[in-house]
Amino acid sequence: MMERKRILSGMRPTGRLHLGNLHGALDNWIQLQTQYDCFFFVADWHALTTDYASPGQIRQNTWDMVLDWLSAGLDPNLATLFIQSDIKEHAELYLLLGMITPLPWLERNPTYKEQQQQLDQKDLATYGFLGYPVLQAADIIIYRAHGVPVGKDQLPHVELTREIARRFNFMYQCEVFPIPDALLTEVPVLPGLDGRKMSKSYGNCIYITDPEETIREKILKMVTDPQRVRRNDPGNPELSPVFAYHKLYSSPSEVMDIAEGCRTARIGCVDCKKRLITNLLARLRPIREKRIELERDADRVREIMEAGNAAARSQAAQTMEEVRQAIGLGKGYGGQSESAVTGM
Ligand code: TRP
Repeated sequence: MMERKRILSGMRPTGRLHLGNLHGALDNWIQLQTQYDCFFFVADWHALTTDYASPGQIRQNTWDMVLDWLSAGLDPNLATLFIQSDIKEHAELYLLLGMITPLPWLERNPTYKEQQQQLDQKDLATYGFLGYPVLQAADIIIYRAHGVPVGKDQLPHVELTREIARRFNFMYQCEVFPIPDALLTEVPVLPGLDGRKMSKSYGNCIYITDPEETIREKILKMVTDPQRVRRNDPGNPELSPVFAYHKLYSSPSEVMDIAEGCRTARIGCVDCKKRLITNLLARLRPIREKRIELERDADRVREIMEAGNAAARSQAAQTMEEVRQAIGLGKGYGGQSESAVTGM
């Protein structure tokens, strides 16, 4: 059998996942797990780079995210799922890569200044925040991944990873690290309940494990085409976030029927929403049922993650043996040295 190519990706632990996360990274990972040797992990150390002053949520968020991963269909029999902070080897490689990474590479990373400005209520003038991409490089190359599925916001980090891997191989005259490629995930921006991009910080999310009643209420309150004021006004479906959801959850023929019904004012917004509710709930029902099952069996989830951690750790440990050899650290001393006394 041909060996499958290895890919790796991580998510910062943001807690329960919303529909934007589902259609962005997660559905893509679920597809990939049947085609590649997949490593997927919770980047909880990366969460600390911005939340070091209030880390109280990180552990709970990690748990919630893992439950959502498994509920949505990530399969521990197909992919290796693990927690970054459980694999100490990442920290060792991060330290060693820090030795060879020129500061200007980090200072000119576009996400560095951008994020500092965006999150201006936090003090991000820290060593850890500047080093964010070095840790990410360690995450990726410690598993010798060939591909890194990410959204376009992460491309600068993958580029930096490539440069760091090349520099390591060159500096220590070895080929320990393959140079990984980004596998760009095309994600249509999913609008939130208010029509802006769905984002936890805007409070406009539908979570994949929201109770059915909550989802019903959220959709009924959702904004629609702002120009369709009265029931008899013809609407423009492309201006309504409700229609954007229909494209994801309704059959092609129903999508066409709704578009036509909206343009001719045959269908009102409430009817349109009711049809969406039916279809969305049908899509989320198996996920919610699986989540309930897993919540009742926390021990099993812990076992799954321990098994994933162990598999990841064993790969990471092998790489680190080679890394130490390449640099000339650790075991192997006393082998070739001459006697200081006899000179022989
Ligand atoms: N920086 C990524 C994000 O914010 C998360 C991440 C950490 C990651 N390490 C990674 C993604 C390694 C891919 C590979 O989304």
